[in-house]
Amino acid sequence: MAAQDPIGLFDSGVGGLSIMKEVRRLLPQEDLIYVADSKFCPYGEKTPAQIQERARKITAFLLAQGVKLIVVACNTASVAALQQLRAEFTVPFVGVEPAVKQAALFTKNKKIGVLATGLTLSGDRFTFLVEKYGSGVTVVNQACPGLVEAVEKGAVSAPSTEMLLQKYLAPLLEKGVDVVVLGCTHYPFLRPLVEKLVAPGVQVIDTGTPVAKQTKRVLAENNLLTPNQRAGKEWFYTSGDPLVVGAVIERLWGGKGEGVAGLPEPY
Ligand code: SIN
Repeated sequence: MAAQDPIGLFDSGVGGLSIMKEVRRLLPQEDLIYVADSKFCPYGEKTPAQIQERARKITAFLLAQGVKLIVVACNTASVAALQQLRAEFTVPFVGVEPAVKQAALFTKNKKIGVLATGLTLSGDRFTFLVEKYGSGVTVVNQACPGLVEAVEKGAVSAPSTEMLLQKYLAPLLEKGVDVVVLGCTHYPFLRPLVEKLVAPGVQVIDTGTPVAKQTKRVLAENNLLTPNQRAGKEWFYTSGDPLVVGAVIERLWGGKGEGVAGLPEPY
């Protein structure tokens, strides 16, 4: 593994592009390889064993492309598979988790809301975060079936997506939360809708920036920051239909980089 090698990122689909945008902003010269595991999306409805199996295969694929670090750009996969990936592979991993710590620092009325998948909310890591950082804070959790699928279709401003969000935000707003945590990497693409639906003054936060900073920190610690002076390139792969997924990537990323290809067998 060498400093000029690319960084790998993966998610159940296109949601992890919200993390990749922050990585690109902070590390403009790094080459990036992104895998959208669209055929197996949403991970929130899979068992931990199924997610671990997919995470293992995608990691093997990314390593075959010569990546120097892997960002697990998915909250659900981080909960279900990060520990096992670290035990099985020597490449450095960076995971994501809902920004409970940050929310607990920001809240003025000690009430925060967390939108995430059921699997993320029921995971030990989430319980740990709430116990560690949420003392004295009311944490209102809301699982959001259907939102990941809406983002996967690129329906980030559709009336049907707005109605779903309205339903999921209602219990949080009833409790009067003043911070809403977007605890799934798909949800930052819905930020404009969320901000439209919450009361003025309610802060909406996600984990893109801290994950990008952590990625830079881990690269620096391992002497793996790229020596490249040119702009970094991006390659996209998907286990879904590259044409369909490629169109959504183009919309959410703002281009297709060096192209969108199908994930080859046996991955
Ligand atoms: C999912 O695929 O269900 C959600 C991905 C995430 O938790 O970030």
